[in-house]
Amino acid sequence: MANERHYSPTDRLLLQADAALRTLLPFNGKPYRPSPAQGEPETQLDAGKARHVAGLMRINHTGEVCAQALYQGQALTARLPQVRSAMEQAANEEVDHLAWCEQRIRELDSRTSLLNPLFYGLSFGIGAAAGLVSDRVSLGFVAATEDQVCKHLDDHLGQLPEEDRKSRAILEQMRIDERQHAATALEAGGLRFPAPVKFGMSLLSKVMTKTTYRI
Ligand SMILES: [Fe+2]
Ligand SMILES: [Fe+2]
Repeated sequence: MANERHYSPTDRLLLQADAALRTLLPFNGKPYRPSPAQGEPETQLDAGKARHVAGLMRINHTGEVCAQALYQGQALTARLPQVRSAMEQAANEEVDHLAWCEQRIRELDSRTSLLNPLFYGLSFGIGAAAGLVSDRVSLGFVAATEDQVCKHLDDHLGQLPEEDRKSRAILEQMRIDERQHAATALEAGGLRFPAPVKFGMSLLSKVMTKTTYRI
């Protein structure tokens, strides 16, 4: 946005606080695209299965909170306007993912993770710090994160009960989108991270998945 340079530091802080709250409070807007689950029949899952699916969807929801934070942190520190615009569509699609996951969790009579503010803060800091190093590092970070998310989605799609077509439809569309986000970030100049960095990121994501499945 060309007029963004006119914002004072206080304006930016307020805009950021607003973005953070909109991510962390229950979603009350309209997703850009309707949920892919809409066209799928609801099935009655037994209590154990419903609890398991809700746990998986809670992990995915927190992953989307992290994605929001990462993009918002990056937008704050990205130097090149074309980096922001390249990632803008991806960021909009993350809003969809956030809304779809949250809606599904509610349908399963469960709640989003209590740890979301913590993971939001962590991811925002990482996104902003990566953006301070360089745009290439921050885009590389997005690409590596999306790769990680795709791995989770593959794993979760394998664990979903066959009959839960609603959750499946959501995760399948997310997987298509996340692959595209990773490709977009690399095309925009993102660095391909070396294996040790990716390993560190996968450890961090293990902590996230282990905790948010329950909490
Ligand atoms: Fe996403
Ligand atoms: Fe994504």
